[in-house]
Amino acid sequence: MGTFLYRNDRLAARKLLALILFQQMGWEMVGNKDGSADARARFLSDPFELEDALSPVQRLIALHEEIRHSLNLEDVTRIAIALYDSKTHRLKTFIRSGAKESPLDHYTASLDDIPSLAEIARLKRPRVVDDLDMFKSSPSLHSTRLIKNGFRASLTIPIHDHGALFGFLFFNSDRPGYFSEVVVHQLMPYAKVIALFAINEMQSIRVLQAAMKTAREITHLRDDETGGHLDRMARYSRLMALNMAEKHGFSDEFIEFIYQFAPLHDIGKVGIPDAILLKPGRLTEDEFAVMREHVDKGIAIIDAMRRDFNLDSVSYIQVLRNIVAFHHEAIDGSGYPKGMKGNDIPIEARIVSVADVFDALTSARPYKKAWSPEDAFTFLHGAKGNRFDPECIQALESGMEEIRTILAQFAESPLG
Ligand code: C2E
Ligand code: SIN
Ligand code: SIN
Ligand code: SIN
Ligand code: FE
Ligand code: FE
Repeated sequence: MGTFLYRNDRLAARKLLALILFQQMGWEMVGNKDGSADARARFLSDPFELEDALSPVQRLIALHEEIRHSLNLEDVTRIAIALYDSKTHRLKTFIRSGAKESPLDHYTASLDDIPSLAEIARLKRPRVVDDLDMFKSSPSLHSTRLIKNGFRASLTIPIHDHGALFGFLFFNSDRPGYFSEVVVHQLMPYAKVIALFAINEMQSIRVLQAAMKTAREITHLRDDETGGHLDRMARYSRLMALNMAEKHGFSDEFIEFIYQFAPLHDIGKVGIPDAILLKPGRLTEDEFAVMREHVDKGIAIIDAMRRDFNLDSVSYIQVLRNIVAFHHEAIDGSGYPKGMKGNDIPIEARIVSVADVFDALTSARPYKKAWSPEDAFTFLHGAKGNRFDPECIQALESGMEEIRTILAQFAESPLG
């Protein structure tokens, strides 16, 4: 049933996108020779088939191209979306398009520290700034970085999903006063399309997560697997990816997917018998052999979901699959199930592996006490180079302050 709803939602969103684009572009683009309904039907279906294979960033870039060339709005030099995290009240960059180097990659800030944006969200109304110089008296890091990169004018649109703040859409230009009433009017339909596809994209991720949560609940996964562990290891993974982003050229989009999918790494455990999964003591060798099957079971679940949710061409599904399939591989080839080595193991899996073990070690389990972060790092370093990616360990360890914040915010409830 969930599958069905989801596909209808996607179809509805598609139809809306098509309608909005249609209105904006006029009818002369379709069936211009004979105006036949056949020609229209072809136009409607083809571009959106294609769109499935695009990642959110690629879609944004395509729409940006269209804005610049079809609408002749050459001077829209940057479009970006930032997502709002209601749990932490923070804003984080997600996707952007623009020729220039981005001033705000890997940027997060509390909404409280950007009062002008908080106000836009509260009013639920777009805001035009003719010259970002007006923020010079009370600059936020956000506006300072935009100005430094030569952006002068901005159109900022709050995005709400079912009444809740979802994020912001930013249009920027190098030309002061660029966002006149006429330009804003032209841009609005595109803004709606961009907001819709961003919401649609995050929605499909939430549906995946909800399906996983249901699977967990039905199969009584241990409490300590479902609570703080998932919150913490997702945040450790994100912290590591951020610290490695510059060197590896990770996009904010990729980092967000790692963050969203890290908690699903052990989804295959729903297929492990309770007697083993919930055993309040050390596993025997035979039991552990069964436990190791959680990786192959996880891959089977992801592949089934790919089919059922029709997600095969969606870009991020591979990130999820890699995390599930390779989070127990080891750099020296001693891991399972494949015994892959070094950089053959996808980076997202190397990251999640360190985050998972670090959190497993620093948490109490029915068969062991919680270790201190220091002891956990000593363990990880001891295995460095043979099991874990040293760069990943380094990326986590350099975030000690954030680790303590995460530990405090998502503290474990005592095991019952
Ligand atoms: P998990 O609890 O999420 O642990 C993930 C990984 O963290 C483990 O992968 C292991 O590499 C590391 N880890 C966890 N606890 C310890 C520990 O006390 N000492 C050390 N040195 N490393 C630790 P691994 O070993 O492949 O285990 C996979 C899953 O199997 C674990 O996921 C857990 O659910 C289960 N498991 C492993 N050992 C036992 C056990 O002795 N008793 C029970 N009941 N479950 C176990
Ligand atoms: C970015 O430039 O990476 C994105 C979003 C923002 O303006 O906050
Ligand atoms: C700000 O509101 O501080 C930055 C301006 C903008 O992104 O439009
Ligand atoms: C876990 O065992 O870590 C939870 C499984 C899941 O996320 O579905
Ligand atoms: Fe696992
Ligand atoms: Fe785990």
